[in-house]
Amino acid sequence: MDKQEKIKQLLNLREQAKLGGGKKRIEAQHAKGKMTARERIEILLDEGSFEEYDMFVTHRCNDFDLAEKKYPGDGVVTGHGTIDGRVVYVYSQDFTVLGGSLSETFARKICKVMDQAMKVGAPVIGINDSGGARIQEGVMSLAGYAEIFQRNIMASGVIPQISAVFGPCAGGAVYSPALTDVIIMSENTSYMFVTGPKVTKTVTGEVISTEDLGGATVHTSKSGVAHFKAEDEEEGLMIIRKLLEYLPQNNLEDPPVTETSDPSERADDILNEIIPGQSSLAYDMKDVIYTIVDHKEFLEVHRHFARNIIVGFAKFNGMPVGIVANQPKFLAGVLDIDASRKAARFVRFCDAFNVPIVTLVDVPGFMPGSAQEYGGIIIQGAKLLYAYGEATVPKITVTLRKSYGGAHDVMSCKQLRGDLNYAWPSAEIAVMGAQGAIEILEGKKAGSIKDREERDRYIAGKEQEYIEKFANPYAAARVGFIDDVIEPRNTRFRIIRGLQTLMTKKDTNPPKKHSNMPL
Ligand code: HXC
Repeated sequence: MDKQEKIKQLLNLREQAKLGGGKKRIEAQHAKGKMTARERIEILLDEGSFEEYDMFVTHRCNDFDLAEKKYPGDGVVTGHGTIDGRVVYVYSQDFTVLGGSLSETFARKICKVMDQAMKVGAPVIGINDSGGARIQEGVMSLAGYAEIFQRNIMASGVIPQISAVFGPCAGGAVYSPALTDVIIMSENTSYMFVTGPKVTKTVTGEVISTEDLGGATVHTSKSGVAHFKAEDEEEGLMIIRKLLEYLPQNNLEDPPVTETSDPSERADDILNEIIPGQSSLAYDMKDVIYTIVDHKEFLEVHRHFARNIIVGFAKFNGMPVGIVANQPKFLAGVLDIDASRKAARFVRFCDAFNVPIVTLVDVPGFMPGSAQEYGGIIIQGAKLLYAYGEATVPKITVTLRKSYGGAHDVMSCKQLRGDLNYAWPSAEIAVMGAQGAIEILEGKKAGSIKDREERDRYIAGKEQEYIEKFANPYAAARVGFIDDVIEPRNTRFRIIRGLQTLMTKKDTNPPKKHSNMPL
């Protein structure tokens, strides 16, 4: 073979590899409304930046009829490229090759990019679309998964790990995405479950569809397993690109600060009017968030899950932050099991990757009731408390209105190493609301007053006394638990000044093997 022929051979082999499982299977993939593994990578990465590895790898199994079914690349496309000019590693499972099923060599390819990502200190993005363990390879396939899991665990908190699920992801295969920082699912074309509808029916008798058991809607609203539901794959890939704008390449770097044309001194008069006259009335915390952040841009994480708390990424004067905010519009912004879990996970995500946390507080307390107690609200709430207390990134808290009881402590209070704790004049920082407090403190005395009008007057008077004394920010400000009571319109630039000042903050936790956080 002469030189030209050798090059031709290479190009032919490449073309063959690029076809994955062949034209017919690509057509079938498209017919399902799905892209191929390579099409996904092309959309995800900066144009022309993808460098593929292991295109010629084939599996080594000859059992059943696998000897005749060897495809170059063996069902997963791996390599590196850039997103907005920054290096990322990527693997993309190719359903057109043996259903994207995971073989020993397939797993090795994934492990190779994960290992390199760790050495380089760059994010790993995994695109999942697979029928699970390659059945013909038996335990080799199980071992392959475990190799990936181990790497997911070692990489956790070191490099960002993002999973897209754009097809089947079932059985033990779900645990790789579950070990990563973020899961994005595409609507109608993806599902995740430990056991599918058939086994569910056999074992429990429950009849349920694939979508209802493990579709994108279920996991982004009910279970909280997935963080984003994308209308289609393209939107899902754009979410990944957006997400990385807020994250550093690894835990030793700070998130990238960008230029912004949104003035840092911008004051927002609308915020002086946003809190309703009556403290029992709701307002939309998102209006506050969109008003104070750069260019009204907020990447909400877990939008459909535990809507009584809001978490997501935004920028202040170009500085990325994680925002955690109670949402008075849903369940009055109460902290319950799901809200605590959701926020705790987010706080730890931010802390692991040096993203400062801005907390906006309007919380009436923890959700009461047996369902919550039996579900372990004690442990679940402790997670959030733990996450805030453990976090060493800059922490700025603004209390807008209610901040009652244990929930006050949990929501990044001063004693949990809050760096800057501001309050609006409408803040109510106390052990509990006036009505509940007076019932406990004055219930017996009020009960002994026979005349109803006189009794009501007595209670109202006491409630007023309590409100004046406690339902305000000044009791906390007088003892330095609130650093300043600020005019709402100035919130944006007070946060920006705080973040600028805290950029060089250093704080540490005592050395230990690892913590024993309440799980
Ligand atoms: C080998 C597989 C495969 C697998 C699919 N294929 N899954 N080959 N091992 N796990 C092959 C099919 O035989 C078929 O090949 C081709 O891929 C396409 O699959 P179809 O069934 O035609 O596609 P579709 O109708 O879209 O159904 C997709 C599917 C189904 C729902 C994913 O293929 C399926 O149920 N697969 C098995 C899922 C499963 O039980 N996996 C093991 C789970 S246990 P041909 O040549 O016929 O077209 C597990 C343990 C992990 O994963 C443990 C980790 C700790």
